[in-house]
Amino acid sequence: MINSSRLRIPSPLTLGLSTLGRDTTGGSAEERDAIRFAERVLTSGHTYVDTSNNYAAGRSEAVLGAAAIRRGAARSADIITKVDVDPITGRFDRDRVLRSFDESRARLGVDTIPLLHLHDPDMLTMSEALGPGGAVEGLIELRSSGAVGAIGIAGGHIPMMSAYVSSGVFDAVLCHNRFTIVDHSATALFEDARRRGMVVFNAAPFGAGLLSGGPRPGTRYAYLPASDALLDWTRAAEHICREYELSLPAVALAFSLQSPLIDSTVVGISSANRLDDLDELQRQTVPSELWEQIDQLGPAPTPIVDPAVR
Ligand SMILES: NC(=O)c1ccc[n+]([C@@H]2O[C@H](COP(=O)([O-])OP(=O)(O)OC[C@H]3O[C@@H](n4cnc5c(N)ncnc54)[C@H](OP(=O)(O)O)[C@@H]3O)[C@@H](O)[C@H]2O)c1
Repeated sequence: MINSSRLRIPSPLTLGLSTLGRDTTGGSAEERDAIRFAERVLTSGHTYVDTSNNYAAGRSEAVLGAAAIRRGAARSADIITKVDVDPITGRFDRDRVLRSFDESRARLGVDTIPLLHLHDPDMLTMSEALGPGGAVEGLIELRSSGAVGAIGIAGGHIPMMSAYVSSGVFDAVLCHNRFTIVDHSATALFEDARRRGMVVFNAAPFGAGLLSGGPRPGTRYAYLPASDALLDWTRAAEHICREYELSLPAVALAFSLQSPLIDSTVVGISSANRLDDLDELQRQTVPSELWEQIDQLGPAPTPIVDPAVR
């Protein structure tokens, strides 16, 4: 149940475009293909797509902007983006937030953004971020001016994310790889966000590979190498899924979709075929006995270690 009045209610899936436009250059055939894919995404019926100032070094936003212009009013999805640290100076304060937002607006070809996240502020102490002249001041200014509808905090480390959520400043939270069948550690964070009436986005339900591609040697979970112990745990989970004639990705997605804590699950896709795949996965029903059997496997050995909040 969403209490925040600042945002449209998101559809169950938000499409993540962190790889969009990677390795493309302006005017190339690859860019034209990427724009066509982005047009499909923008007209796919989902409420939001998720990008960031720094995804594919700005190319994700540039391609999305070109696609949005081509689709005009025909598009259904609004674009959520994020402000990022200056890649050259390492600065991430109020002024950088305003510049990052202006860069995003220029690439996307829009004046306003419905939701702007503070993206991965891991390098900042809480007092740097929340203090005078800090990044959060810039976000609040943008919200007060109406240039952004709502502001959010996006990242992956639980102690840091909890500190931002408990600041009471943000309308939305996005946490990745921490609310999956492998790692449940965002549960309390999302419960807190929900109590505060924030909109909750759960990103990377497939652990960015392990739970979509399966437990193959060399695969990663949350952008980190998956240990042999994690591969074994995932094989056991996959075996349970098969007993119910379900695939591992179907169950991984359902874990997030069926949770009352989550408003929208952010899934990364890089081709139009995935839109149909996701429709098919979303239709699968997971019986409660399957969750009980996965619980009986015990906690999965996640590779993520959270730094202390500074
Ligand atoms: N700090 C942050 O703000 C932050 C951090 C992480 C992620 N995010 C957001 O969350 C999004 C999702 O994260 P992610 O992409 O890293 O992880 P993810 O969604 O867990 O996994 C993406 C992978 O799943 C595959 N996939 C997608 N749909 C599938 C389907 N129906 N069947 C099988 N495989 C499928 C994709 O394949 P293809 O590539 O072949 O399509 C891709 O390899 C990002 O794009 C980004 O928007 C934000």
